[in-house]
Amino acid sequence: MCCGVWITAIAATIQLIAAIGKGRVGLVGWTRCDSPNGMTAAPPLIAFAHVGKSFDGGRGATPVVAVNDVSLDVAAGELLAIVGGSGSGKTTLLRLANRLIEADSGSITIDGEDVRKIDPIPLRRRIGYVFQSGGLFPHMSVADNIGITPRLLGLSAAEIASRVDELLDLVRLDRTQHRDRLPHELSGGQRQRVGVARALAARPRIVLMDEPFGALDPLTRDALGDDFRDLHRKLGLTTIMITHDMTEAILLADRIAVMRGGKLLAQGTPAELSSSDDPYVGELLRTPRRQAERLNVLLPRDGAA
Ligand SMILES: Nc1ncnc2c1ncn2[C@@H]1O[C@H](COP(=O)(O)OP(=O)(O)OP(=O)(O)O)[C@@H](O)[C@H]1O
Ligand SMILES: [Mg+2]
Repeated sequence: MCCGVWITAIAATIQLIAAIGKGRVGLVGWTRCDSPNGMTAAPPLIAFAHVGKSFDGGRGATPVVAVNDVSLDVAAGELLAIVGGSGSGKTTLLRLANRLIEADSGSITIDGEDVRKIDPIPLRRRIGYVFQSGGLFPHMSVADNIGITPRLLGLSAAEIASRVDELLDLVRLDRTQHRDRLPHELSGGQRQRVGVARALAARPRIVLMDEPFGALDPLTRDALGDDFRDLHRKLGLTTIMITHDMTEAILLADRIAVMRGGKLLAQGTPAELSSSDDPYVGELLRTPRRQAERLNVLLPRDGAA
């Protein structure tokens, strides 16, 4: 990964974690939920209503409209994937939800409360965030990276150690082998697991993940995706996950939101999206379809694997 990307990811982590640290109160426990979510009738846990966000283009350039009148509901217990090309506004939408940046127009509610009326510190404590490009502190061990938020929230050393071990188990990293390593001593997949563990450290109900499984080999990506899907169910989380990979979105998410040029083009289950008459949505779905058809032909059904 290039230096600039590292620095951007870490700066974002510092901004988020420093803000959480100002709170310093106890943690609430996870509500474990082993049953499948009953999404249909429940009011949305996260609701974006006509949200807009522009950025100053700098030096007299025209402003960039990053998010343009987006309305999107996410039900409690739902795993929603956001897909779309580079620069379509996915990360901006996610950052608006926990007030890393503020919307110019529209409203975002969490559990019915307008996020502008919630102190950003308790708000971010309720929301785990997995950064695009990881964002682990390179000079800190795995245990210190995962334990940073519990430490800032005032947990004792013993409580933090046991929380770190619990999280390492959750993301299936061997405690003794990994807790004292530095991020550069881990594989990409292991680093991504640490990023997920850190996001879960304050036992949030909501997790926002920005391309959490990017840049991994297909097998590791598949395994991590499945593991996260299990965690999402087991912990009763509500998750928004950004991905560039439509196949990953179809396989992991309950619903998919498609963004383009700051606009929400379509949203729905994979089956609902497949009947969309939007040409861009059709194009996005063509690749997994074509791959599935080719795989069916190329891989004999009675093969060894
Ligand atoms: N802080 C900022 N200042 C100026 N422009 C910004 C800023 N953040 C994002 N943008 C612009 O807003 C648009 C949307 O950016 P965003 O990061 O949300 O895209 P994205 O869909 O996450 O893209 P990618 O898939 O490449 O991560 C882009 O044109 C980007 O250049
Ligand atoms: Mg992005």
